Amino acid sequence: MTEQPMVRFENVSKRYGTLTVLDGLDLEIKRGEKVSVIGPSGSGKTTVLRMLMTLETINDGVIWVEGEPLTHMQRNGKLVPADINHIRKIRAKIGMVFQSFNLFPHMTAMANCIEAPITVLGMKRADAEARAADLLEMVGLGQKKGHYPSQLSGGQQQRVAIARALAMRPKIMLFDEVTSALDPELVGEVLEVIRKLGREHDLTMLMVTHQMGFAKEFSDRVCFFHAGKICEQGPPKELFGAPKNERTQQFLRAVLEAG
Ligand SMILES: Nc1ncnc2c1ncn2[C@@H]1O[C@H](COP(=O)(O)OP(=O)(O)O)[C@@H](O)[C@H]1O
Ligand SMILES: [Mg+2]
Repeated sequence: MTEQPMVRFENVSKRYGTLTVLDGLDLEIKRGEKVSVIGPSGSGKTTVLRMLMTLETINDGVIWVEGEPLTHMQRNGKLVPADINHIRKIRAKIGMVFQSFNLFPHMTAMANCIEAPITVLGMKRADAEARAADLLEMVGLGQKKGHYPSQLSGGQQQRVAIARALAMRPKIMLFDEVTSALDPELVGEVLEVIRKLGREHDLTMLMVTHQMGFAKEFSDRVCFFHAGKICEQGPPKELFGAPKNERTQQFLRAVLEAG
């Protein structure tokens, strides 16, 4: 028996009015797999992550997480629209880190990392603090627990955001261009944390990125998005080394010339 995919997009479409953003997307991600998503601006990359995070509705198709549909649930043998508890249960499996950090500005690094574990998971404060301290240590910020976001660099804020997402014990981590808002000299420290996560944790990771070098070295598979579809996908060596599709070739040429 083949193992159930961790995530599966089945013929998923998303429209805003007359604009079709995703057009019958099929995508499967295995447990523990590290998948990078690349592609031009506006091709639907962020929308894919936001739908999986249940921040966007789906027009057509089904997203499955460990075999359960995100938007539907079984009741008396029938599939009915999901209620809030079902959505919360599935969403608890997923953590997301955004381009713009999105930390709570009035809370310290520690407070950012314990808020949801206490209010959503019902953890005891002492337990939540112990776990947050470990995670902040893991991202190299053991000395900055009491700092507010405004007292931290962009790279440090992004590392707090990663610790905060991990504090909810997700099985799946989503990263949306998490280094794009950073000064170039701060990019490396954030990528290093992601590298470490990939090595030391049994996480499934889906990452939208413009860091082609990182995508090449880190991912099991790279998907090139174009106009709401996966135009080409494959192991990074193949996709970067010998792209088959003309659109992929054009995109990679343009990115390499710019960078
Ligand atoms: N809330 C929204 N309302 C209308 N259009 C949107 C909305 N969010 C995204 N879009 C449009 O959907 C398309 C895909 O957006 P997005 O997923 O953010 O692309 P990417 O992350 O690949 O740059 C873009 O054309 C964008 O303008
Ligand atoms: Mg985007």
